[in-house]
Amino acid sequence: MDQYILRMENIRKTFAGGKVVANDCINLNILKGEKHAIVGENGAGKSTLMKILNGLYQPTSGKIIFNGKEIIIDGPSIAAELGIGMVYQHFMLVPTLTVAENMILGVEPKKGLLLDLNKARQDVINVSHKYGLDIDPNALVKDLSVGMQQRIEILKILFKGANLLVFDEPTAVLTPQETKELYKIIDNLISEGKTIIFISHKLEEVLAISDNITVIRRGKDVDNFKTSKATKEMIANAMVGRAVLFTTKRPIVKIGKEILTVKNISVKNNFGVMKVENVSFSIREGEVLGLAGVEGSGQTELIEALTGLMKSEKGGEIKLNGNIISNVSRRKLNDAGIAHIPEDRHKRAAISQYNLMENFALGQHATIYSKNKFLINFEKIKNATMKYILKYDVRPIEPELKFGKFSGGNQQKVIVARELEKKNVFIIAAQPTRGVDIGAIESIHKMLLLEKEKGKALLVVSSELSEIMNLSDRIAVMCAGRISGILDRAEATEEKIGILMAGGKINE
Ligand SMILES: Nc1ncnc2c1ncn2[C@@H]1O[C@H](COP(=O)(O)OP(=O)(O)OP(=O)(O)O)[C@@H](O)[C@H]1O
Ligand SMILES: [Mg+2]
Repeated sequence: MDQYILRMENIRKTFAGGKVVANDCINLNILKGEKHAIVGENGAGKSTLMKILNGLYQPTSGKIIFNGKEIIIDGPSIAAELGIGMVYQHFMLVPTLTVAENMILGVEPKKGLLLDLNKARQDVINVSHKYGLDIDPNALVKDLSVGMQQRIEILKILFKGANLLVFDEPTAVLTPQETKELYKIIDNLISEGKTIIFISHKLEEVLAISDNITVIRRGKDVDNFKTSKATKEMIANAMVGRAVLFTTKRPIVKIGKEILTVKNISVKNNFGVMKVENVSFSIREGEVLGLAGVEGSGQTELIEALTGLMKSEKGGEIKLNGNIISNVSRRKLNDAGIAHIPEDRHKRAAISQYNLMENFALGQHATIYSKNKFLINFEKIKNATMKYILKYDVRPIEPELKFGKFSGGNQQKVIVARELEKKNVFIIAAQPTRGVDIGAIESIHKMLLLEKEKGKALLVVSSELSEIMNLSDRIAVMCAGRISGILDRAEATEEKIGILMAGGKINE
């Protein structure tokens, strides 16, 4: 019997009439019962290859052999019938329905003519129990954490009988705790005889959980490793084609006058719950303040208040260069010189249906990119876009391609470029390297530190502690809406930050 559950041979896929070659000639061999990692730079072609496997795209050429037989997968339902299921990075659940209702969308169990929701609930409980998913069938999806929603996606494909499960960057949006739980679930799946393929940019994670690794570069499979024989450096080298620095040297910069002053601010979320309580801090010229904390501790609401998306309650004050900016319009904030790389690029930063140039100009189309008050200067936008595409290594070099058609990491580079290149004195970078490959992490970190060298004030919010440690001069830690401590980089350790994240105190 074939030891491979799946072999993809010489897969080629082009887009835009052949202009974009997403998969050039890729070979992928997956053993039955293994955990196989696919790694590669942003835009290398990983998601495209997996979408071909799931029947969302047809390959331009190449063969797929599944359980020893050559097959054609012309639609996700065919993939599901074969036992192939995919958990996408952007979930496809209906927020206003319960877990059980979401589960049965499209495969409704019937009792006579009626929908059998009781059976659906019982099924959720059974399958959830078998794989340690711990899901409440009656919960509304909109009330669930990202980690929980991901479990429902897993449950959904298990329901449809998946044997080969594909995860596209499953941990990019998870907290460290949720990530650990996902690893456990993956182990349960393996012990039940399933096979797992996962894409990840986190090399520690790839080394910790995979059996074998395939490296894709510019649409080709360039290397394979047995994980037990691989190192982080070896994989990085194969991915990028050069050695990668994992820590960037922080430049020595004179810390100047106070740029941002936050005094006693409190912020309520949309449901009227106080999420930030009486927070004060400041950031100076040439200084990077890192903001750490378990996700949901108030970081998001704090940033939303700083960027004018949420109101700060009475009694608090935010100042930029000495001028009060709390509760002023977004336009005024922009003019005052706040740049913002938001944590959720789809919701806050970009318009997928607009092309790259238009997204570059967003927010500045009426100012520096306007000819007179009424006309947009497309020539100028195009020139600037080309310049930044090259500077920030955005791929492919197609200024007129729709934003949504760029790979995840390249979308992020576009937002970083736009925000850093606009006139600013204070930069908020929230999860600046989420979904970005290791080479690009290195370059985004360098770009941020260059801004520090220019004397900008920076606030870096990240769920990656290594990122915070790498970039910050001081580290503020949030817990339950308050700042539980601010540490100098020199005295900060992961352990101390962990204590503050849990609301503890550091004894000197
Ligand atoms: N529908 C599409 N139309 C045009 N180009 C596309 C389309 N889908 C993907 N591409 C292009 O194909 C290439 C590969 O994209 P893909 O999403 O597979 O990359 P990836 O390896 O998953 O990258 P990332 O790590 O950033 O997610 C990219 O250059 C991308 O812009
Ligand atoms: Mg991808």
